[in-house]
Amino acid sequence: MKVTINQKGTERLLKGHAWIFRSDVTSVEKEQAGTAAVYSHQGKLLGEALYSPKSLIALRLMTRGPEKITQSTIRERLAMALARRREMYPQDEAYRLAFGEADHLPSLIVDRFGDSVVFQTLSAGMETFKDHIVLCLRELLGPRSIFERNDSSVRQHEDLPLIRQAVYGEAREEIDFRFSGKTFAFQPLEGQKTGFFLDQRFNGEAASRYAKGEMLDAFCYVGQFGLHAAPRVASVLCVDASEPALAQVQRNVQANGFENIQTRGANVFDFLKECDLEQRRFDTISLDPPAFVKNKASLKQAWRGYKEINLRAMRLLRPGGILITSSCSQHMNVELFERMLSEAARDARRPIQLLEKRGQPADHPILLSMPETEYLKCYILRVE
Ligand SMILES: C[S@@+](CC[C@H](N)C(=O)[O-])C[C@H]1O[C@@H](n2cnc3c(N)ncnc32)[C@H](O)[C@@H]1O
Repeated sequence: MKVTINQKGTERLLKGHAWIFRSDVTSVEKEQAGTAAVYSHQGKLLGEALYSPKSLIALRLMTRGPEKITQSTIRERLAMALARRREMYPQDEAYRLAFGEADHLPSLIVDRFGDSVVFQTLSAGMETFKDHIVLCLRELLGPRSIFERNDSSVRQHEDLPLIRQAVYGEAREEIDFRFSGKTFAFQPLEGQKTGFFLDQRFNGEAASRYAKGEMLDAFCYVGQFGLHAAPRVASVLCVDASEPALAQVQRNVQANGFENIQTRGANVFDFLKECDLEQRRFDTISLDPPAFVKNKASLKQAWRGYKEINLRAMRLLRPGGILITSSCSQHMNVELFERMLSEAARDARRPIQLLEKRGQPADHPILLSMPETEYLKCYILRVE
C-alpha cells in the first residue's frame, strides 16, 4: 500500500516526528488499516508506517528508508524494549515494557506486572498486529495471564471497538506485584487505564522521603502515594470518587499490614472546600488528578481546575507542610504547570519551595522530537 504526503508532512517526518495528520496526506492507494509505504511530495520513499483510515493521525512512521514493517519488526522491537527494561530495572518485576512511539512501537502500550501482562493497541494499524503481539509476549515472558485493556476512548477515533478481556491464561480478578518492599494489587479488567499507574511508582517512593504527620492522598486511586508514605507518617486519608478504587485501597492496606490508612469516598474539589470550612489541616498532601486537559481547547478551564485544587491544598497545609502535586496532562506543559503553581502560591499567600521536580520514569521515555511523549509532572514542594 502506498501513501503520498505533502511538503509539510515530509518536513515533519524529517525532523524526527512519527505522526502524519490526515490533512497532510495527498493520496492513498487503498483505504485499509495496516502498513503503508510513505512517499514524499517529491516521490521519495521515506519509510513505512501504520495506516489508520479513520483517525486524524493517519500515519505512524515505524521505519525509515526501504525497511518494511513485518511481524519480525514487532518481535524485535518488543524484545529490545524488554531487554532495556531488564537492564534498567534488574530487580523489578513491574514496568512499562513498551511505551508506544518512544519505543518505536507506535500506539502500543504494554505493562508487565510480575507474571501478568496488560496491553493496549490504540490505532487501527497496530490492531492488525494484535494476535502477533500476544504471541510475542507469550514467547518473551512466558506469563501466567495476558489482558487486553482496549477500552480507551482513544480507540473510538480509530473506529475500533472497545474491548477488555483476558486473551491468554488465567482470567484472574486481581493481580499483585511487589515494589519497594510493598505489595500493590489491582483489578486488571475493572481498574482504570491498564489497571495501575506505573508512571508514578518512583514518584510515590520519592515523595515518601518527605512525607510527615497527617497526610491526605487526594485522587488516590488504589492508594499508591499513601501506601508508600504510610511507614513514615502518623496517618493517611485516601480520598477518591471511585468506590471500587477505595475498596482496592482497603485490600492493599490489609495486604501490607498498615493500620494508619483510612479511606473516604468524595469529590476532591468538594472535600478540599469542606476541609477549609472546618479548618482541618494536614502536614502532607498528594494531588494526582486525572488529565483535566484532553485537548488544547479545554486548557483554560483545566488551568482553573488545577489552580483551584493546588491553591486549596496549599491553604490546608500546616506551615512547612509538603505538597506533592502531579499533572498527567500533556497540554499542561512544564512552563504552564509552574506558572499555575506560582499563581496558586501567590493567591494562597503561602510561599513555596521546590524540593524535587520529577516527571515520568525511564520506562516511559521521552522522544525530544515528539513532545507528545512527555506528559507527567510530579513536583514536591514545601509550603511555608
Ligand atoms: C491519575 S489517577 C490517580 C493515580 C494514583 N494517585 C496512583 O498513583 O495510582 C486519578 C484518580 O482520580 C479519581 N478522580 C477523578 N476525578 C475525581 C474527583 N473529582 N474527585 C475525586 N477523585 C477523582 C479517579 O477515580 C482516579 O482514581
